[in-house]
Amino acid sequence: MEKDFWIEAWDKGMTGFHQSAPNKVLTTIGPKIFNKTKNVFVPLCGKSLDMLWLLENGHNVIGVEIAEKAVEDFFIENSLSFEIEKNEKFSIYRSKNIALYLGSFFDLTKEDLGKFDVYDRASIVALPKEMRQKYAQHLCNLSSGDTKILMQTYEQTQVPDVGPPFSILEDEIMNLFENHYSIEILNRGDSVVPKRHQNAGATKTQFVVYHLAQK
Ligand SMILES: C[S@@+](CC[C@H](N)C(=O)[O-])C[C@H]1O[C@@H](n2cnc3c(N)ncnc32)[C@H](O)[C@@H]1O
Repeated sequence: MEKDFWIEAWDKGMTGFHQSAPNKVLTTIGPKIFNKTKNVFVPLCGKSLDMLWLLENGHNVIGVEIAEKAVEDFFIENSLSFEIEKNEKFSIYRSKNIALYLGSFFDLTKEDLGKFDVYDRASIVALPKEMRQKYAQHLCNLSSGDTKILMQTYEQTQVPDVGPPFSILEDEIMNLFENHYSIEILNRGDSVVPKRHQNAGATKTQFVVYHLAQK
């Protein structure tokens, strides 16, 4: 999934992934995982209201998003004033306790982020297989030593994968992260079948919630 795909999706309003309220996994499990966390990094953040929930619950938020419309909508729709700072790779939209980096996740450096824990909802599953390897590698490189990740994935095995969202089975998460993180499954259950998968014939999908703790 390259940049143009996402810019077009945002421009055409094809953003079925966007939720109109904070995600239940975050509001129920987040307080336990992030109880000592100051900075939460939200990769591939869209205009997620989960970022608002994180702010309201005392965290600083750093997001990265490739579509300008998503970043601007986030600030405008939530009535947050912002300033823009530019560097070679990013336009950085800042408001109180939040910085959204407009640009590619893959261009972020450790210096951009400092120390953080990660909230990944609809992020790794937005990427095709070959990019997920890069995503995991880059996330590991950016991590600061005792990083925790709260991650939600999506699984279906009935039809060939037609993401995004892409189906990611447990084995793949293990292979991608187990060298650097200890991995615990916190929850698993049936989920709504995404439209693209319904159209391909899938009738059953599951969500999986992981807690990854850097070794
Ligand atoms: C499926 S959406 C999920 C958004 C958000 N996490 C949520 O829960 O609503 C994936 C987002 O990743 C963004 N994106 C895709 N590739 C990216 C990249 N390389 N760097 C930053 N953002 C990217 C897309 O524009 C899109 O908004």
